Amino acid sequence: MNDLEPIGQTIQRCQELNQRNTQDWKQKSKPNSESIPDFKKTMRFQHAKKEDIDPQIWENIKEIFENEELGLYIYGKVGTGKTHFLHIVKKEIQKIFPTKSTQIISTPDLFLRIKSTFSEIKTEKEEDIIKELSGSYMPYDRSIKILLLDDLGIEKPSEWAIQTLYSIIDKRYQKCLKTFFTSNLSLDELSEKLGDRIPSRIAEMCKIIELTGKDRRIK
Ligand SMILES: Nc1ncnc2c1ncn2[C@@H]1O[C@H](COP(=O)(O)OP(=O)(O)O)[C@@H](O)[C@H]1O
Ligand SMILES: [Mg+2]
Repeated sequence: MNDLEPIGQTIQRCQELNQRNTQDWKQKSKPNSESIPDFKKTMRFQHAKKEDIDPQIWENIKEIFENEELGLYIYGKVGTGKTHFLHIVKKEIQKIFPTKSTQIISTPDLFLRIKSTFSEIKTEKEEDIIKELSGSYMPYDRSIKILLLDDLGIEKPSEWAIQTLYSIIDKRYQKCLKTFFTSNLSLDELSEKLGDRIPSRIAEMCKIIELTGKDRRIK
Protein backbone atom coordinates (compact mmCIF):
# COMPACT_ATOMS: atom_id res chain seq x y z
CA MET A 1 0.00 0.00 0.00
CA ASN A 2 1.31 3.43 -0.88
CA ASP A 3 0.46 6.07 1.73
CA LEU A 4 2.47 8.90 0.17
CA GLU A 5 0.65 12.22 -0.19
CA PRO A 6 -0.58 12.81 -3.78
CA ILE A 7 1.68 15.25 -5.63
CA GLY A 8 -1.24 17.68 -6.16
CA GLN A 9 -1.69 18.03 -2.40
CA THR A 10 2.07 18.56 -1.85
CA ILE A 11 2.15 21.33 -4.43
CA GLN A 12 -0.90 22.98 -2.88
CA ARG A 13 0.65 22.78 0.58
CA CYS A 14 3.85 24.40 -0.70
CA GLN A 15 1.91 27.14 -2.43
CA GLU A 16 -0.02 27.87 0.77
CA LEU A 17 3.20 27.94 2.78
CA ASN A 18 4.77 30.25 0.24
CA GLN A 19 1.76 32.59 0.41
CA ARG A 20 1.83 32.57 4.22
CA ASN A 21 5.58 33.39 4.23
CA THR A 22 4.99 36.31 1.89
CA GLN A 23 2.16 37.59 4.09
CA ASP A 24 4.34 37.26 7.19
CA TRP A 25 7.01 39.26 5.41
CA LYS A 26 4.56 41.99 4.50
CA GLN A 27 3.25 42.18 8.07
CA LYS A 28 6.70 42.28 9.55
CA SER A 29 8.22 44.77 7.09
CA LYS A 30 7.87 48.19 8.55
CA PRO A 31 10.24 51.01 7.69
CA ASN A 32 12.03 50.27 10.90
CA SER A 33 15.54 48.97 11.18
CA GLU A 34 14.55 46.35 13.76
CA SER A 35 12.10 44.73 11.37
CA ILE A 36 14.65 42.82 9.29
CA PRO A 37 16.43 40.03 11.15
CA ASP A 38 20.13 39.47 10.54
CA PHE A 39 20.71 36.18 8.83
CA LYS A 40 22.29 33.64 11.16
CA LYS A 41 22.43 36.29 13.85
CA THR A 42 24.58 34.79 16.53
CA MET A 43 24.50 35.43 20.25
CA ARG A 44 28.28 35.95 20.24
CA PHE A 45 28.10 39.54 19.07
CA GLN A 46 24.99 40.51 20.99
CA HIS A 47 26.95 42.25 23.74
CA ALA A 48 29.54 43.89 21.49
CA LYS A 49 29.64 47.55 22.45
CA LYS A 50 31.09 50.84 21.35
CA GLU A 51 33.68 50.84 24.17
CA ASP A 52 35.28 47.65 22.77
CA ILE A 53 36.72 49.74 19.95
CA ASP A 54 39.66 52.13 20.29
CA PRO A 55 38.43 55.78 20.37
CA GLN A 56 41.04 56.61 17.73
CA ILE A 57 39.27 54.27 15.31
CA TRP A 58 35.92 55.99 15.95
CA GLU A 59 37.62 59.32 15.34
CA ASN A 60 39.04 58.01 12.03
CA ILE A 61 35.68 56.87 10.78
CA LYS A 62 33.44 59.62 12.11
CA GLU A 63 32.36 60.61 8.55
CA ILE A 64 30.23 57.47 8.33
CA PHE A 65 27.92 58.95 10.96
CA GLU A 66 27.79 62.33 9.24
CA ASN A 67 27.45 61.22 5.64
CA GLU A 68 24.29 59.34 4.72
CA GLU A 69 25.95 57.53 1.81
CA LEU A 70 29.39 56.60 3.09
CA GLY A 71 30.09 53.04 4.26
CA LEU A 72 33.16 51.18 5.49
CA TYR A 73 35.44 48.53 4.07
CA ILE A 74 36.95 46.77 7.08
CA TYR A 75 39.73 44.34 6.29
CA GLY A 76 42.25 42.37 8.29
CA LYS A 77 43.46 38.92 9.14
CA VAL A 78 41.34 36.20 10.71
CA GLY A 79 40.31 36.93 14.31
CA THR A 80 41.19 40.62 14.33
CA GLY A 81 37.59 41.51 15.26
CA LYS A 82 35.99 42.44 11.92
CA THR A 83 32.63 40.81 12.56
CA HIS A 84 32.59 42.09 16.15
CA PHE A 85 33.27 45.60 14.87
CA LEU A 86 30.61 45.25 12.16
CA HIS A 87 27.93 44.46 14.76
CA ILE A 88 28.95 47.48 16.83
CA VAL A 89 28.92 49.69 13.73
CA LYS A 90 25.43 48.44 12.95
CA LYS A 91 24.17 49.36 16.44
CA GLU A 92 25.75 52.82 16.27
CA ILE A 93 24.55 53.49 12.72
CA GLN A 94 20.99 52.53 13.70
CA LYS A 95 21.05 55.19 16.40
CA ILE A 96 21.85 57.83 13.78
CA PHE A 97 19.56 56.51 11.02
CA PRO A 98 16.78 54.77 12.98
CA THR A 99 14.22 54.70 10.20
CA LYS A 100 16.46 52.98 7.64
CA SER A 101 16.16 49.21 7.36
CA THR A 102 19.52 47.72 8.23
CA GLN A 103 20.83 44.19 7.89
CA ILE A 104 24.02 42.20 8.36
CA ILE A 105 24.46 39.16 6.15
CA SER A 106 27.56 37.10 5.57
CA THR A 107 28.44 36.68 1.90
CA PRO A 108 28.42 32.85 2.03
CA ASP A 109 24.92 32.98 3.60
CA LEU A 110 23.79 35.37 0.91
CA PHE A 111 24.80 32.86 -1.77
CA LEU A 112 23.17 29.99 0.13
CA ARG A 113 19.95 31.98 0.31
CA ILE A 114 20.04 32.74 -3.41
CA LYS A 115 20.96 29.15 -4.32
CA SER A 116 18.01 27.85 -2.29
CA THR A 117 15.74 29.54 -4.83
CA PHE A 118 17.07 27.19 -7.52
CA SER A 119 15.33 24.18 -5.97
CA GLU A 120 11.93 22.99 -7.16
CA ILE A 121 10.19 24.12 -4.01
CA LYS A 122 11.08 27.73 -3.47
CA THR A 123 9.82 30.16 -0.91
CA GLU A 124 11.28 33.21 -2.62
CA LYS A 125 12.62 34.28 -6.00
CA GLU A 126 16.26 35.04 -6.83
CA GLU A 127 15.37 38.37 -8.39
CA ASP A 128 13.44 39.40 -5.25
CA ILE A 129 16.43 38.66 -3.00
CA ILE A 130 18.69 40.67 -5.30
CA LYS A 131 16.21 43.55 -5.36
CA GLU A 132 15.88 43.44 -1.57
CA LEU A 133 19.66 43.51 -1.04
CA SER A 134 20.27 46.12 -3.70
CA GLY A 135 17.64 48.42 -2.20
CA SER A 136 15.30 48.27 -5.18
CA TYR A 137 12.45 46.11 -3.87
CA MET A 138 8.90 47.29 -4.29
CA PRO A 139 7.10 47.65 -1.91
CA TYR A 140 9.87 49.91 -0.83
CA ASP A 141 9.93 48.86 2.82
CA ARG A 142 11.45 45.42 2.11
CA SER A 143 14.48 47.08 0.53
CA ILE A 144 17.59 47.10 2.68
CA LYS A 145 18.80 50.65 2.93
CA ILE A 146 21.90 49.97 4.99
CA LEU A 147 23.58 46.67 4.16
CA LEU A 148 26.51 45.18 6.06
CA LEU A 149 28.15 42.35 4.11
CA ASP A 150 30.43 40.20 6.23
CA ASP A 151 33.28 38.08 4.82
CA LEU A 152 33.44 39.33 1.27
CA GLY A 153 35.83 37.35 -0.93
CA ILE A 154 36.05 34.40 1.43
CA GLU A 155 35.05 31.79 -1.13
CA LYS A 156 36.53 30.70 -4.39
CA PRO A 157 34.23 32.74 -6.59
CA SER A 158 32.43 31.37 -9.62
CA GLU A 159 31.52 33.65 -12.54
CA TRP A 160 27.91 33.45 -11.33
CA ALA A 161 28.88 34.55 -7.79
CA ILE A 162 30.94 37.49 -9.10
CA GLN A 163 28.12 38.57 -11.40
CA THR A 164 25.53 38.32 -8.59
CA LEU A 165 27.67 40.32 -6.20
CA TYR A 166 28.39 42.87 -8.88
CA SER A 167 24.72 43.25 -9.61
CA ILE A 168 23.92 43.96 -5.94
CA ILE A 169 26.89 46.25 -5.31
CA ASP A 170 26.52 48.18 -8.55
CA LYS A 171 22.84 48.91 -7.87
CA ARG A 172 23.68 50.09 -4.36
CA TYR A 173 26.51 52.18 -5.81
CA GLN A 174 24.18 53.82 -8.31
CA LYS A 175 21.58 54.54 -5.66
CA CYS A 176 24.25 55.85 -3.24
CA LEU A 177 23.09 53.37 -0.56
CA LYS A 178 25.19 53.01 2.53
CA THR A 179 27.04 49.69 2.43
CA PHE A 180 29.60 48.12 4.75
CA PHE A 181 31.94 45.24 4.04
CA THR A 182 34.38 43.08 5.92
CA SER A 183 37.02 40.98 4.25
CA ASN A 184 40.28 39.17 4.90
CA LEU A 185 41.59 40.83 1.75
CA SER A 186 42.78 44.34 0.98
CA LEU A 187 41.06 45.95 -2.01
CA ASP A 188 44.09 45.10 -4.19
CA GLU A 189 43.88 41.47 -3.15
CA LEU A 190 40.13 41.51 -3.70
CA SER A 191 40.74 42.79 -7.26
CA GLU A 192 42.93 39.79 -7.95
CA LYS A 193 40.11 37.52 -6.84
CA LEU A 194 37.02 39.27 -8.22
CA GLY A 195 38.37 41.56 -10.93
CA ASP A 196 38.37 45.37 -10.75
CA ARG A 197 34.70 46.23 -11.11
CA ILE A 198 33.60 45.46 -7.54
CA PRO A 199 36.64 46.85 -5.66
CA SER A 200 36.61 50.03 -7.70
CA ARG A 201 33.01 50.75 -6.66
CA ILE A 202 33.76 49.85 -3.05
CA ALA A 203 36.66 52.32 -3.06
CA GLU A 204 34.22 55.09 -3.91
CA MET A 205 31.41 53.94 -1.59
CA CYS A 206 33.50 53.33 1.51
CA LYS A 207 36.08 54.58 3.90
CA ILE A 208 38.74 51.89 4.14
CA ILE A 209 40.06 50.68 7.44
CA GLU A 210 42.46 47.89 8.33
CA LEU A 211 42.16 46.00 11.63
CA THR A 212 45.51 44.71 12.80
CA GLY A 213 46.66 42.65 15.76
CA LYS A 214 46.65 39.06 16.83
CA ASP A 215 43.95 36.46 16.27
CA ARG A 216 41.66 37.15 19.25
CA ARG A 217 40.35 33.60 19.14
CA ILE A 218 43.75 32.25 20.15
CA LYS A 219 44.11 33.02 23.83
N1 LIG B 1 37.20 44.73 20.31
C1 LIG B 1 36.88 43.53 20.84
N2 LIG B 1 36.63 43.44 22.16
C2 LIG B 1 36.32 42.25 22.71
N3 LIG B 1 36.21 41.09 22.02
C3 LIG B 1 36.46 41.12 20.71
C4 LIG B 1 36.79 42.35 20.04
N4 LIG B 1 36.98 42.09 18.74
C5 LIG B 1 36.76 40.77 18.59
N5 LIG B 1 36.45 40.19 19.77
C6 LIG B 1 36.15 38.76 19.96
O1 LIG B 1 37.19 38.01 19.31
C7 LIG B 1 36.66 36.91 18.57
C8 LIG B 1 37.03 37.04 17.10
O2 LIG B 1 36.40 38.22 16.55
P1 LIG B 1 35.71 38.26 15.11
O3 LIG B 1 35.02 39.55 15.00
O4 LIG B 1 34.87 37.03 14.93
O5 LIG B 1 36.98 38.19 14.15
P2 LIG B 1 37.05 38.20 12.57
O6 LIG B 1 35.67 38.47 12.05
O7 LIG B 1 38.04 39.28 12.22
O8 LIG B 1 37.58 36.85 12.16
C9 LIG B 1 35.16 36.93 18.83
O9 LIG B 1 34.86 36.07 19.90
C10 LIG B 1 34.88 38.38 19.22
O10 LIG B 1 33.71 38.52 20.01
MG1 LIG C 1 34.32 37.36 10.91
